[in-house]
Amino acid sequence: MGINIAIDGPAGAGKSSIAKAAALEKGYIYVDTGALYRSIALFALENNLNNDSLVNSLDKINLNLEFIDGSQHVVMNGEDITDKIRTPEVSMNASKVSAIPEVREFLFGLQKKIAAENNIIMDGRDIGTVVLPDADLKIFLTASAEERAQRRYREIKDMPGVTFEQVLEDIKKRDYNDMHRDIAPLKQAEDAVLLDTTGMTVDEVKTRLVKMITEIE
Ligand code: DC
Repeated sequence: MGINIAIDGPAGAGKSSIAKAAALEKGYIYVDTGALYRSIALFALENNLNNDSLVNSLDKINLNLEFIDGSQHVVMNGEDITDKIRTPEVSMNASKVSAIPEVREFLFGLQKKIAAENNIIMDGRDIGTVVLPDADLKIFLTASAEERAQRRYREIKDMPGVTFEQVLEDIKKRDYNDMHRDIAPLKQAEDAVLLDTTGMTVDEVKTRLVKMITEIE
């Protein structure tokens, strides 16, 4: 049984950059669970599936996470889709398919299995509340919507048609969807440490996180 660190928070809070940097320093595996929801969203988009037909097709999806040089690769039905799942269209659709109970159930087992076998830092929306309620450390990472949109915009501004206003609107829409869905909504676990990263650099937050992990080891 490995050490499990759960990081939850809204889109663009810096979860992945911070978790990735801390995992590298501590020699843990970083697991980005948003990538799993994005993969299901891509499958639905590529096959033109509505919610019902997606649920009926879940058994046709073979999803695996591979860790190459510490970096997570998502392989769906034999294809490495790591880069393909980063478009704004997939982001928005991931938020939609993540509200489907069967989709969450489908991904639950995969997440549990990875966490049981390794020392991991896993990030998502329901890791501390649902997937790993007994995690050794839980962090709820947040920042203002404007700052989160700025960070996201810097990452994707070279994609065609991307504007800051659209990124901000998408972030707010996704926050609303993620916090208001019936099943496993985004919320801070009671025993999670709240970290507001507005105005902080990735390095500053990483240092705080690494210190907290070292304290519980
Ligand atoms: O972290 P991300 O932006 O890659 O996540 C994409 C979407 O997936 C997000 O809008 C909500 C959903 N998600 C979720 O419901 N539960 C998780 N543990 C991770 C992501």
